[in-house]
Amino acid sequence: MTPPFLAAAGVHAFYGSSHVLHGIDLAVGRGEALALMGRNGMGKTTTIRALFGLTPPSEGDITIAGERVRGWPTHRIARLGLALVPEGRGIFPTLSVREHLVLAKQATIAADTRPAWDMDRVLELFPALRPRLAHMGDRLSGGEQQMLSIGRALMANPTLLVLDEATEGLSPLVRDTVWSVIRRIKAAGVALLIVDKDMDALLGVADRCLILSKGRVVYSDTPAHLAAHPEIHLRHLGV
Ligand SMILES: Nc1ncnc2c1ncn2[C@@H]1O[C@H](COP(=O)(O)OP(=O)(O)O)[C@@H](O)[C@H]1O
Ligand SMILES: [Mg+2]
Repeated sequence: MTPPFLAAAGVHAFYGSSHVLHGIDLAVGRGEALALMGRNGMGKTTTIRALFGLTPPSEGDITIAGERVRGWPTHRIARLGLALVPEGRGIFPTLSVREHLVLAKQATIAADTRPAWDMDRVLELFPALRPRLAHMGDRLSGGEQQMLSIGRALMANPTLLVLDEATEGLSPLVRDTVWSVIRRIKAAGVALLIVDKDMDALLGVADRCLILSKGRVVYSDTPAHLAAHPEIHLRHLGV
């Protein structure tokens, strides 16, 4: 059996003295899509931050591409093939669309044998960005910023793309565009770890789903299994 591209085992994390993650286990295989679910404040973003070394775990193991990365700086972890589309998008107001994409490209290495993502391929995925190449980040709509945030992450040629609430605050039309792009990224062989409130679309893309409650994994199975057990949905995800 080939090991998963990314595996976390028994990960704990704190903000100051506040113990937020209590032993997270998760795995994402190459090309696989994992939905990370749970109500607000349950630890989804913190789990992502722990994987990237942004909130370094206090305990536990994270293995990416065969390397044990706990304690590594974020830039070194990212170079193993991890890219993040962060909550809030992270677009720079005074950089143009072109500059965001070019800078992301310079920071990377060729991760494996899949065809590399470049500016042309990203613009093919998001044609709406093409006429905006010279526009500064603060002149873009929310939808354009989100497309740029995803495009920038792809420029790093990730083996695993992590999307934290990528459709948050977008109009239904733009949301549909983003989901269709996410499906195309998956079809191109990129593994995905997705947090999103749009459950139907999320479960339509995911191969497996995992639910967090108060910093613990309380459920891990397939979307089909979750759909067949509405009581699990209600207990851990219902409002
Ligand atoms: N920077 C921070 N400092 C202190 N506590 C935080 C910080 N960020 C998040 N938290 C707390 O950690 C818990 C998990 O938050 P988070 O991982 O953002 O949840 P989610 O992404 O699932 O909504 C929450 O109780 C939240 O209030
Ligand atoms: Mg969050």
